[in-house]
This record gives sequence, C-alpha cells and structure tokens, in this order.
Amino acid sequence: MQNLSTIALAEAVPFPILLINAQEKILWANAAALRLLGGDLAGKLFVTVLRQPALGEALEAALRRGESQRVRARISAKGREMVVMASVAPMPADPALELPQGGATIGLEDITALEEAEAMRRDFVANVSHELRTPLTALMGFIETLRGAAKDDPVARDRFLSIMGREAGRMNRLVGDLLSLSRVESDERRRPTGSVDLSVVLKGAMQTLAPVAEPAGVQLIREGETGALRCPGDPDQLMQVFSNLIENAIKYGGSGGEVRVEVTKIAHEPVLRGPALKVTVADRGEGIDAMHLPRLTERFYRVDTHRSREQGGTGLGLAIVKHIVARHRGRLKIESEKGQGSRFSVILPAG
Ligand SMILES: Nc1ncnc2c1ncn2[C@@H]1O[C@H](COP(=O)(O)OP(=O)(O)OP(=O)(O)O)[C@@H](O)[C@H]1O
Ligand SMILES: [Mg+2]
Repeated sequence: MQNLSTIALAEAVPFPILLINAQEKILWANAAALRLLGGDLAGKLFVTVLRQPALGEALEAALRRGESQRVRARISAKGREMVVMASVAPMPADPALELPQGGATIGLEDITALEEAEAMRRDFVANVSHELRTPLTALMGFIETLRGAAKDDPVARDRFLSIMGREAGRMNRLVGDLLSLSRVESDERRRPTGSVDLSVVLKGAMQTLAPVAEPAGVQLIREGETGALRCPGDPDQLMQVFSNLIENAIKYGGSGGEVRVEVTKIAHEPVLRGPALKVTVADRGEGIDAMHLPRLTERFYRVDTHRSREQGGTGLGLAIVKHIVARHRGRLKIESEKGQGSRFSVILPAG
C-alpha cells in the first residue's frame, strides 16, 4: 500500500482496523488488528478470519450497497471469547490503496470488559434488593399482624417483636457489610501504612469469637508460631479478615468440634517473592464441594443459601476478605474436600 499518511494514521489508532477489498479479502490490517487476530492476515478471506454472520452481513452491505453499519458481535480471537462493536463502512475506489473496485473498512472495539462490568452491576443491584427485601417483607408482615390479630396478645407480641428485632438486625448487618465492602474496594490500591503484630490480631479475633464457639461446642486452638509476628498492615482490616474466617469455620465447619488457627513463617514465598507469614484457619467440618471453591469469594455466593441465611450470613464475608487481602498484597488460598473439612489460608508479605 502506498498511501503513507493513511497508513500512519491507521497505525496510530489503538483499535483494530482492517481494510477489505471488493473480493472480501483482507488487504491490510493495522498493528492493533494484528495483535488481536494474529499476524499473517493479508490476502486471507475475511470470513475465514472472523467467522461471524452479523459481521459478514455488515461487510456485504458495505461492499454491495455502500451502507455503513455498527454491529455488536461475539467473536473468538486467539482462543479468547470476546464481544466487539464493529464499525463497517464502505471505502471508495482508490487505485493508490490497491482498491480499484472499492472496498470496506472494519474497525473493532473490544467491549467485553464493559459488558461484563455492566452485567456484574445488574447482578449486584438485583442481589442487594433481594437480600434487603426478604427481611423487609417479614418486618412488614409482622407489623400488619401486630396491628390486627396479635394486637391484644402480649405473648404473641413479644415473640413477633423478637423476630422483628432479628430481621432488622440482619438488614443492619447487610448494610454494614455493603459499606465495608465499598470502603475496602475504594482503597484497595492504597497500601496499608501501619505495622501489625499478627499474634495480637489473632488473639483478639479468637477472643471475640469465643462466645460463638462455646455454645456451638467448638474448641478454638492456636498453633504454630507465636511471639511477635510483625507485618505491614491495617490492624482493623486484618481483624475483620480473621474474625470472618474463624466465624465461618465455626458456623459451617463446627461439626468437627475444633477450629485450628495456625501461623507459619515462610522464608521465601515464590508468588510474593519474599518472606511471608501464613495464617491458616482449619476446621474439621463437612468441607466444601470442589465445584463451589472458585466462586466462594464472589459477593453473595453461598454454598447453602438457606443455611447461611439461617445463621445470619450475608454472603459478603469472603468478598470482603478477598479485597482486604489484595490490598495487603497477600494471597488467599482455599482448600477443602467434601467430608474432610476446610482450610482457608492468608499469606501476607512479612517485609
Ligand atoms: N469453613 C467453611 N466450611 C464450609 N463452608 C464454608 C466455610 N466458610 C465459608 N463457607 C461457605 O462459603 C459461603 C460464603 O461465606 P461468606 O463468609 O462469604 O458468607 P456468609 O458467612 O454466608 O455471610 P457473612 O460472612 O457475611 O456473615 C458460606 O455461605 C458457606 O456456604
Ligand atoms: Mg462469613
């Protein structure tokens, strides 16, 4: 192609651009297109590179009828599924561009992340509304009953008020967790500036949860390294991480009768590339089926929704844990086998 200024201009555009001739062959592709679709595009039939009916039709319309179109298409490029917005426009005949019979340009915009974010936002709003509506419906029902049938029945009134108190408490916890999640997410990029003694944090978390462990018949056991275990971190956030993990172990893994909190020092953690402290919260409960493990840290994801709700859970605990650990540049590792109990490990950089 000889038209240098056109080439220079198209090369500077960060979006993939393809020039197609009247025979539907790729005449030229800019650098972004080569990155997306792989090298060696020139001379290939367009349909063999991007097999997508919507794109094929838009190309036809541009070549045969001189129409411009914007079409949304799901394509697979270099083995990756993605959603693109394609702008297909006719190109007038131009011998300098090796287009004696005219052709078409196709510009692609990768909107995969945008669509995913939008879907996540929709899911999130739907989930929050649903989670709030359940206790709210209960509250409204009881208010109605207290106004009518149970008006002059003090025993029923007391019972209903205590249920209402529980439901209101659940809504309050949910709102609290949501605020906490949004705070953690917004400062995820800012590294914590303080220094923490993990021994102190773990002791605090275990003391806080002793009143939950005892009635559940669960023994809380501290193992491994003791003494001062300093690492950079935010004490309140790390307290939130470990109370969440220990609380989960008691609530969902308590049938094993014990929860162990173990600390090990790692001289060189390969992923964190340095010394690290590993805290493992292990239970001997029912364990978690492997299919659930990858989704466990998603907001509102629960293995057994009914049981978790019954226990007052909002399903946000592990999502908060994940973000806090990420802010500390650490790793969260979940290992579990059905029937064998679960191990949740947090690995934090020590230096
Ligand atoms: N130790 C464990 N053993 C078995 N299942 C677990 C364990 N920890 C977590 N889970 C499962 O993971 C789900 C998500 O946990 P998460 O802490 O995010 O939410 P939650 O405990 O239901 O609510 P919240 O922590 O907000 O009170 C739980 O509902 C439970 O099904
Ligand atoms: Mg939890």
